[in-house]
Amino acid sequence: MEEPRSNPPSPIRFTRIDSTNDEAKRAVLRGCEDRLTIVADCQTSGRGSHGRPWSSPPGEDLYLSVIRHTTRPVRELPPITLAAGLAVADTVADHLPDQVPGIKWPNDILLAGQKCAGILTETVSHSTGTTVSAIVGIGLNVNRTEWSQDLSTTATSMKMVAGVDLDREEVLSTLLVHVHRWLDRFLDEGPGPIVTALERRLCFLGDPVRIGSVDGTFLGVTSTGAARLQTRDGEKEIVSGPIVPRSHRH
Ligand code: BTN
Repeated sequence: MEEPRSNPPSPIRFTRIDSTNDEAKRAVLRGCEDRLTIVADCQTSGRGSHGRPWSSPPGEDLYLSVIRHTTRPVRELPPITLAAGLAVADTVADHLPDQVPGIKWPNDILLAGQKCAGILTETVSHSTGTTVSAIVGIGLNVNRTEWSQDLSTTATSMKMVAGVDLDREEVLSTLLVHVHRWLDRFLDEGPGPIVTALERRLCFLGDPVRIGSVDGTFLGVTSTGAARLQTRDGEKEIVSGPIVPRSHRH
C-alpha cells in the first residue's frame, strides 16, 4: 500500500515580494522541500500569462505559488494548471455556495461570467537527474472592488459577487487544502481524474468559440490538457489559449 503523504510544509509568507513565482524559483534553486508554498500580501512585479502584468495591491487578494517536484516529463505537465483551476473553483464554491464558478480554458476562473482568478504555471529544470519543479502561481481576487480601467469590464472578486467581505486567511486555508489535493491527484494518477472533473466546471462546452485563428465548437480537453475543437475540417487540438466565445449565428 502507498504510504500516506505527510502534511505539506507551512507556507513562507512575505509582506511584499517581486513575484511569488520568482521567489518560488529562487526557493527551488536553494533546494526547497516539495509542496512548499510562497504567499505574499502584495507583489511589485506580479506576472500574468502572455507576458502581461498581474495587478497585485496589498490587503485584499491572494497571491501564492505552490512548488511541486516531479519526475513526470515537462510535456505531461500542462494539466497541472487545470488541476489548480479545479482547486480554485472548489474554493470559491465552498465560500460562495450560491455560485457556480467555471474554468475558462486554460487558466482563468470565472465567477458570474467574469474573471476572479488566474493561474500561471512555470517549470524549473534541475541540473542533475530528471526531476523538474512545477511552480503553480495563483492570483485570486478576494476582496478587491476597484479596478483599473482596462480590467473594470472583465474582472470581478468574491466580495463583488457575494456583497460582503471575506476572511482572506480562511479562503487561503481552503485553497491550500484543495490545491494540494488536486495537485497530488494529478501527479499520482495522471490527467484522467482532472479531465473528468472538468466536465462540470469548463465554460463554453458545446459552444462556438475561437482559439487563436481556429473557429469551432468547444468539445473539452484532451489528456494532455489541449482544447478539443470540432471544426469544419474535423476535430483539432489546440495547445494554447485564450479561448474566445463567439455569438451563435442564425
Ligand atoms: C493570468 O491569468 O494571466 C495568470 C495570473 C497569475 C497571477 C499569479 S499571482 C501569484 C503568482 N505570482 C505571479 O507573479 N503570478 C502568479
